[in-house]
Amino acid sequence: MSLRWNPSLQGRSLLKISDLTDGEMAELIDLSLALKARRDAGTRGDLLNRKQVALIFEKSSTRTRNAASCAIRDEGGATEYLTRNDIHLGSKESVADTARVLGRMFDGILFRGFSQKTVETLARFSGVPVWNGLTDEAHPTQILADLMTLKQKFGLLKGLKLAYVGDGRNNVANSLMNGCAKAGVHYVNCTPPELAPAATRVAAARAMAAVHGSTVEISADPIAGVKGCNVIYTDVWVSMGEENQKENRLKLLRPYQVNGDLVRATGVPESEFIFLHCLPAFHDTQTDMTRDCGALEVTDEVFEAPYSRVFDEAENRMHTMKALFVSALT
Ligand code: CP
Ligand code: NVA
Repeated sequence: MSLRWNPSLQGRSLLKISDLTDGEMAELIDLSLALKARRDAGTRGDLLNRKQVALIFEKSSTRTRNAASCAIRDEGGATEYLTRNDIHLGSKESVADTARVLGRMFDGILFRGFSQKTVETLARFSGVPVWNGLTDEAHPTQILADLMTLKQKFGLLKGLKLAYVGDGRNNVANSLMNGCAKAGVHYVNCTPPELAPAATRVAAARAMAAVHGSTVEISADPIAGVKGCNVIYTDVWVSMGEENQKENRLKLLRPYQVNGDLVRATGVPESEFIFLHCLPAFHDTQTDMTRDCGALEVTDEVFEAPYSRVFDEAENRMHTMKALFVSALT
């Protein structure tokens, strides 16, 4: 695979999936696959030689932070990890002023935090590319890795059918709906009415999907919703920052657990099926969250099954981050 990237992405930010054209998104996925092949072949080059990226993280992270750091260091650059305790962001100094300072020093900024407005302000004032590494509303860099994982397995995206099962209005669900729509992947969001995505978001995704002849559906019935799906995707029931919603979410989402019965309800042979989860996941293994109540959004039967691609998906965060950095910074 040759390494090629679209010059139209140079200097560009990624704040939400719809910032990319359908073609740009497809090219980023292909570049990510090529970068993975390059790394698998043992090459750690200098595509990002001396580039420096600030990682501003208001929320914690295992994958996004380390995917970014390894992606940059693989290719000769460096990152600086900055939490709310390290810099004045939004407390002693406005986001706009912080953006103007960091933009004079760094080549790009990756932000993870609460408000979409913060990442937009960073992009507006920094003068350098800004990437959204998760806000309350969106998680676009995750979705590039998800679509890469689908392409790895199936060789194409258009015409696949994916069911997202769980909290239908969270950051991952929002971005996944748009990513699928832009890639021509049929998308079914299986969620209780209380957690359905905003009608305006669904209408926008349907307009994007129409270009590819694909569909965007919302279904309160997970068994009916997953029928014929090649992919079931889930995420935590309680996102970061929503911990006070835990009791209500567990009540609403128990019927939406991804377990063996739900996978069998797809009617799709295991060889033609994958399970995805952006991680971290509350499966049967004991964590602080599951100690008292057992598995939440997915059982070990599914999480540990041969068709589960969650760790490929996690690895692909690094290749897709690298594709974004190389496209925007070189
Ligand atoms: N999927 C994901 O964003 O993981 P982290 O929270 O570990 O970054
Ligand atoms: N929806 C989850 C995603 C974690 C990667 C959260 O925001 O906590």
